[in-house]
Amino acid sequence: MITPILLCGGSGTRLWPLSRKSFPKQFTEVVGDETLFQASARRFVGEGFVDPVVVTGNDFRFIVTEQLEEIGVSHAGIIIEPSGRNTAPAAIASAIFAAKSNPDTLILLVPSDHSVSDPDAFRDAVEKGRIAAEEGQIVTFGIAPTRAETGYGWLESGDITHDGVHKLTRFIEKPNTARAAELFADKRYLWNAGVFLASAQTLIAAYKKHAPEIYEAVQLALAQGMEDLSFTRIDPELWEKVPEDSIDFAIMEKVDNVSVVRFEGHWSDLGGWESVWQESGHDAAGNAVSEHSTALDCENSLLRSESDEIELIGIGLKNTVAVAMRDAVMVADMSESQNVKKAVQVLKERG
Ligand code: GDD
Ligand code: MG
Repeated sequence: MITPILLCGGSGTRLWPLSRKSFPKQFTEVVGDETLFQASARRFVGEGFVDPVVVTGNDFRFIVTEQLEEIGVSHAGIIIEPSGRNTAPAAIASAIFAAKSNPDTLILLVPSDHSVSDPDAFRDAVEKGRIAAEEGQIVTFGIAPTRAETGYGWLESGDITHDGVHKLTRFIEKPNTARAAELFADKRYLWNAGVFLASAQTLIAAYKKHAPEIYEAVQLALAQGMEDLSFTRIDPELWEKVPEDSIDFAIMEKVDNVSVVRFEGHWSDLGGWESVWQESGHDAAGNAVSEHSTALDCENSLLRSESDEIELIGIGLKNTVAVAMRDAVMVADMSESQNVKKAVQVLKERG
């Protein structure tokens, strides 16, 4: 059986003003009519999967329970991190937690903020990786790259070991611009989808070898944690001592028992407004227009009002993003829309 682990942290600045610190993008309906978190939870239910474990922050605990209830998915535990320390501690905390009730379980680490339009195909890819994971591999999922992206991990795919499974010969997390261009030109490389399948024991062994300080500190903080309703609260003082790192840098770049399954379906990590525009339905002129919004003579633009009290009208816009919330409006050139991070910074400084 596979225990899905839904990783739910992140402050969500790249989709401001829809996504906020207090309400990050995974809990919003960015595309489609369920939230990204709900879609991620529903992607891995049914045959072969047991109820998911969620790892999240204290502020989100009730959003998580409400959103799971809404879609009728039960859970096997909600681990509450006193603060976000990136994915390496969150992942090992969940592996230790899952191994407690079933030492032989496979775990599937799932980011909760991605969009996958064909969930069946993703489940098939996971199924392909299962044997390799049972044999002690950490299985990654590779996406055919379409640009020299520096914000992703890159996977070098080697010889085939099982049907649809290749040995991973190199894992490069967030390369610089020049390196990303080289990797993009080299056909052996795929993007890392950020999903990992392994037995809890394999992951624990990898941490003991490559990140023993993270493993020890997390184990202590979890052991001293307390159960509160359906929540497992990690001890805040001991959690402070856990080194901050991502699983990609702390583990994946270092281990050698890694495999890759190629995922051919459509995948997006919705890393900014431009990708939301790409993922949304368009009119004939390429505009993605939400309720309470109207595009007049616009092209390739995203017009999105999130309030039924605000009518958003664009006239003659090209390659523009306009997002209206009840308390904030953001208008940007599509190619500059990654810079909403700057807006968040400015507002933070202003207090
Ligand atoms: N519980 C918890 N605690 N979850 C966290 C934390 C944390 O401290 N930090 C991040 N997460 C969650 C995020 O909410 C997201 O769902 C997932 O873990 C991945 O974290 P990101 O911060 O979004 O990682 P990334 O996008 O920079 O990079 C990862 O994903 C890329 C694909 O989107 C890497 O795995 C890359 O290699 C990969 O290409
Ligand atoms: Mg991400």
